[in-house]
Amino acid sequence: MYLPTEGYRIFAGTSNPDLAREIAEYLHTSLGQMRLERFSDGEIYAASEENVRGVDAFVVQSTCPPVNDNIMELAIIIDSLKRASAERITAVVPYYGYARQEKKDAPREPIAARLVADILATAAGADRVVTIDLHAGAIQGFFRIPTDHLTALPMFANYFLRKRLEGITVVAPDAGRVKAAEKLADYLNAPLTVVYKRRPHHQEAEVTHVVGDLEGQIPIIYEDMIATGGTLEACVEALLDHGAKPEIYIAATHPILTGPAVKRLNRREIAEVVVTNTIPVPPEKRFPRLRILSIAPLLAEAIRRIHHNESVSALFKPPMVNNEPMY
Ligand code: R5P
Repeated sequence: MYLPTEGYRIFAGTSNPDLAREIAEYLHTSLGQMRLERFSDGEIYAASEENVRGVDAFVVQSTCPPVNDNIMELAIIIDSLKRASAERITAVVPYYGYARQEKKDAPREPIAARLVADILATAAGADRVVTIDLHAGAIQGFFRIPTDHLTALPMFANYFLRKRLEGITVVAPDAGRVKAAEKLADYLNAPLTVVYKRRPHHQEAEVTHVVGDLEGQIPIIYEDMIATGGTLEACVEALLDHGAKPEIYIAATHPILTGPAVKRLNRREIAEVVVTNTIPVPPEKRFPRLRILSIAPLLAEAIRRIHHNESVSALFKPPMVNNEPMY
């Protein structure tokens, strides 16, 4: 009934089954059979329906909304595989929830991103983690197990290189994104503008400074995630005020798209919002200017390389415009 395992199996949680299927297809395999149920009180039940003794298991689960359920489901799947004697368990977490709580910004705050790492690795027993564009790279250090931190930046760069836009400027919408935006600017051979943002309250964004020459430029804003879209809305306004063309591109790895996000982004000055499928976008949140690039080839290739003990860093190679890229 099942395809040969070749020693590895990919299992999917319920957060992003389409992505997991796509990864499996790319690797010419089928998904492992995992029984996932909810008890009447909301408790999660997970059990592999196939033998996993000695198997190199990969569990694909984004910890996107419902964040807490998805984290718990991932932990329970890992626990079930561990107790069923899987040889090694890799948590493939395309979007890592709670990443924005990675340090104490005020007294008595938690460091929830560390807590989640402990739940997955220390409590549940993951042996390895694969993730993409963490909100803060230092989160890798929260795990005492190998962590492969992949990035969608080369994929975005390829997308924009193929568009052959003239007069572009890459924009970091806040100080936290400067390094990533700088890399995208390098790939695109474009200048960089940095927007400084402050948050008077959670969920509120305010631009204080814009550093860069935007007059007549086409901005490409790089953002790790879009939640309410407040950061991007404030950034777009500031760019327009500073003379940018009303043809603004947004590249964002994780489309959380909560509350007013779609309304804020679906405006004529925004030419395209380019995201990936680390988080599924339901039909009601799709709008004509939204482009979704698939991260499945990148994750599939990472899984293949990890299983065969090959280098994963080769996946970070810079894009080339005339050489059709794989990722
Ligand atoms: C925060 O620093 C992140 O990089 C994003 O800018 C932020 O989380 C996006 O949230 P929102 O879309 O609600 O402004």
